[in-house]
Amino acid sequence: MATPKQKPVTFSILTLFPKMFKGPFSESMLKRAQDDGKVIINIYNLRDWAEGKQKQVDDEPFGGGPGMVLKPEPIFKAVKDITESYTKIRGNAEDHTHVILLTPKGRTYNHRITEKLSGISHILLICGHYEGVDHRVFDHLAEERVSIGNYILTGGEIPAMIIVDSVTRQVNGVLGSEMSKEGESFSFTTKGLLKYPVYTRPDDYEGISVPEVLTSGNHKEIEQWRKDAAEELTKEYRPDLLDRKSGYF
Ligand code: ADE
Repeated sequence: MATPKQKPVTFSILTLFPKMFKGPFSESMLKRAQDDGKVIINIYNLRDWAEGKQKQVDDEPFGGGPGMVLKPEPIFKAVKDITESYTKIRGNAEDHTHVILLTPKGRTYNHRITEKLSGISHILLICGHYEGVDHRVFDHLAEERVSIGNYILTGGEIPAMIIVDSVTRQVNGVLGSEMSKEGESFSFTTKGLLKYPVYTRPDDYEGISVPEVLTSGNHKEIEQWRKDAAEELTKEYRPDLLDRKSGYF
């Protein structure tokens, strides 16, 4: 079945380290998705909105404490300018800009958020750095605050890449076939189970052979084997997924 046409998803990334994005966005599916006009990725250097000779983007925390905090003014100004320029280029005021702050203080990222974001036309990702971002950005600028897991990274750049990557592959027409999304771990179609194990040629590698049923040609048995194997795998490696209240979906 032909996939319905979707307008491109535009990602705007606000960062102090634009060069970090060069490699990951210029290879494989992310490159193809951009070449095909399915997604547009704009990288903006936060320092371009910093004022003064020093182009200062950070300052000491009020009340003391270690490290430096990203100042609010350059971030608020940048978000305003990027939002306005997107609206101007798109010429459609209905195209809302969805502002996300990447921060370990945010809600944990999951597949449900990925699916929601793939239907939004402009996603603006703010990459935090240093000891943190002035909390007025968290409270008054970001519409969503996202952590990609319970660990602290050096900044929001790698989390931003993860969001761009995971959302892009949800955009219609980016995967070779819409079928590839089916049966995948964390997709609703697997009812919350990990994907079944997959194998390819050779059927015997140095004495390690693939389950016989997969080469039998019996599709009914293959389907049953995959269902059982998915359940077994989930029980062993991700028993938390079997608890439907776990919040992953
Ligand atoms: N910045 C630093 N650590 C992070 C995390 N786990 N998620 C999102 N942004 C971050």
